Amino acid sequence: MKTKAKRKAGTMAKAKTEVTVEDATETDIEAVREIYTHHVLNGLASFEEEPPGLDEMRARRAEVSRQGLPYLIAKREGRVLGYAHASPYRARSAYRFSIENSVYVRDGMAGSGIGGALLDALLARCEKGPWRQMVAIIGDSGNEGSIALHRSRGFHKVGTLRAVGFKRGRWVDTVFMQRELGAGSATLPPSATSAEAQAS
Ligand SMILES: CC(C)(COP(=O)(O)OP(=O)(O)OC[C@H]1O[C@@H](n2cnc3c(N)ncnc32)[C@H](O)[C@@H]1OP(=O)(O)O)[C@@H](O)C(=O)NCCC(=O)NCCS
Repeated sequence: MKTKAKRKAGTMAKAKTEVTVEDATETDIEAVREIYTHHVLNGLASFEEEPPGLDEMRARRAEVSRQGLPYLIAKREGRVLGYAHASPYRARSAYRFSIENSVYVRDGMAGSGIGGALLDALLARCEKGPWRQMVAIIGDSGNEGSIALHRSRGFHKVGTLRAVGFKRGRWVDTVFMQRELGAGSATLPPSATSAEAQAS
């Protein structure tokens, strides 16, 4: 799918970047790792402090795919400029209709619509699946880019955990944002048995 990444007039004056959003393949993971490494080492969005190696990044993508969840990249002229994927929100079974998202854009390319294009595509894909809630767990309450990105795609802020992280010499908050997928909690998921439904 081809998406013209666009910005509203008056926001950071960066040129829009036309990107193609597609499923990541094994060969894209090296570029994905490069993008993520920058944010692990220089940012507070991820609470990882040591960049994972290539094998680990490949294993993470394989696990996302095994769960039937999307792992997408944004490309322009063959170059990976960002990536986004979903993952289970938490492992215990009752969380099975809730997923978490991750979006990272290449250093120097933020603010040109790539994150928005990725999140739009991720949401569209996840709405086709059985999941009903998407949670964004954002490192750093000062992460205006991520908070604005999620707000612009219908997420609302549900809370902030204060100082749960310590990275790069300071305490770091975690902001939780949430968005319903499909019918959200308005209907039971298709797989709920009548016994489950009666118990609710
Ligand atoms: C957060 C991030 C993914 C956003 O991607 P991006 O390509 O910069 O975002 P976009 O240019 O597509 O902007 C998306 C929306 O957010 C808004 N926005 C983006 N950055 C903003 C900023 N710094 N301040 C205010 N608004 C901002 C835009 O106005 C846009 O809204 P619109 O689509 O309604 O016009 C990117 O900046 C990034 O990789 N940051 C570092 C890692 C990170 O924080 N990842 C998120 C982990 S939860």
